[in-house]
Amino acid sequence: MVSVLFVCLGNICRSPMAEAVLRHKIVQRGLQDQVSVDSAGTGDWHIGSVPHEGTRKLLDSWRISYEGMVARKVVSQDLANFDYVIGMDDSNVSNMRKLSGGNDAAILKFMDLLPNEKLREVPDPYFTGNFEEVYRLIDAGCDILLDKIIEEKL
Ligand code: 4NP
Repeated sequence: MVSVLFVCLGNICRSPMAEAVLRHKIVQRGLQDQVSVDSAGTGDWHIGSVPHEGTRKLLDSWRISYEGMVARKVVSQDLANFDYVIGMDDSNVSNMRKLSGGNDAAILKFMDLLPNEKLREVPDPYFTGNFEEVYRLIDAGCDILLDKIIEEKL
């Protein structure tokens, strides 16, 4: 099983959206026995919370399930356990590098999947309020990520 962990700050807006969207695409492509996905946050404020209302509304509008998803904090063991650890912004990536103790081969920045986009970080909708923009980036990036996983690992 190839495993993917999306990481953001609170694990209630961006990384749960990415988790739900990637899981949806995994099922659409019939890869559910080959690719698994999870998400976590570097902060601990929202541990145990369901995704933010803005993320839930966007996912509902696209008929994408987030059933059972609750926020958790990233732990150093995640760096060893996951094949891809994908930070949504520069700060997430730098926090993952610190946590990895040098074992950082699995770490990627989400926007590096989308080199033609001007934005180099996934903007935090907790502060911008723009969940549509985040969905657009995540939808495009997750297609590229699945192609990359198939090419590299399957
Ligand atoms: P996320 O957004 O990292 O995309 O889940 C945030 C959620 C909560 C907070 C910050 C960012 N917060 O400061 O509580």
